[in-house]
Amino acid sequence: MKKKVVVLTGAGMSAESGLKTFRDANGLWEGHDVMQVASPQGFAANPELVLEFYNQRRRQLLEVEPNEGHKALAKLEQHFEVGIITQNVDNLHEQAGSSNVLHLHGELFKVRSIADENLVFDWKEDLVLGDLDENGNQLRPHIVWFGEMVPMLEPAIEITAQADILIIIGTSMQVYPAASLVNYVQNGIPIYFVDPRPSVGESDFGNLTIIAEKAAKGVPELVTALCDTET
Ligand code: APR
Repeated sequence: MKKKVVVLTGAGMSAESGLKTFRDANGLWEGHDVMQVASPQGFAANPELVLEFYNQRRRQLLEVEPNEGHKALAKLEQHFEVGIITQNVDNLHEQAGSSNVLHLHGELFKVRSIADENLVFDWKEDLVLGDLDENGNQLRPHIVWFGEMVPMLEPAIEITAQADILIIIGTSMQVYPAASLVNYVQNGIPIYFVDPRPSVGESDFGNLTIIAEKAAKGVPELVTALCDTET
């Protein structure tokens, strides 16, 4: 039976594809205070600004491509059962060919009704005020904003608890509950952390190996090493 590898990814995973991380620019996200563009209060205060912000992110996503790190994770499936839990709202893991991707913080290419969180639609164009669901309610980005529930947390915990190996890539581990997932792994399993500026040290967790590299270099190297142990 194949071993299970669970991969937790953050913004650094997609940095070399051309998508900016959040906390590398003084807490500004593409020039905005994150609370202005990524909170229910921000949306209530200025919905046009928030919709336009995500329109820009959506247009940008149409132009970027998976990097060597995303591609290596897709190849990992040849030797392991792989579950990816991503904090990213891009679809670069899917574009690279990963088949099992859980989006903890939502997806840029989806929108939903403000009145019914289960009314979710695929959406690759701009979204503006006046774009409504079938009941006449405004549509909003399908993104988990600060202060909102994280509906995919329970399935993410279940997947994490089954890991034989955990890989963490490109996340500052500052946003909860995502950062708390690491607490659900079984005792003693190997954990690898790929990040050029890692926020934790090897003594912080049992059996942690830090690879202080960017994702497009560090991830393919790690994947090759892991696959070699399985052949
Ligand atoms: N390769 C790997 N890691 C990188 C790279 C790279 N090329 N470039 C930067 N990093 C690392 C940084 O060192 C940092 O540790 O990526 C991490 C990015 O951290 P954040 O910007 O805080 O992103 P993330 O942890 O994904 O943020 C979590 O915060 O705003 C919210 O909901 C949003 O999902 C997001 C969450």
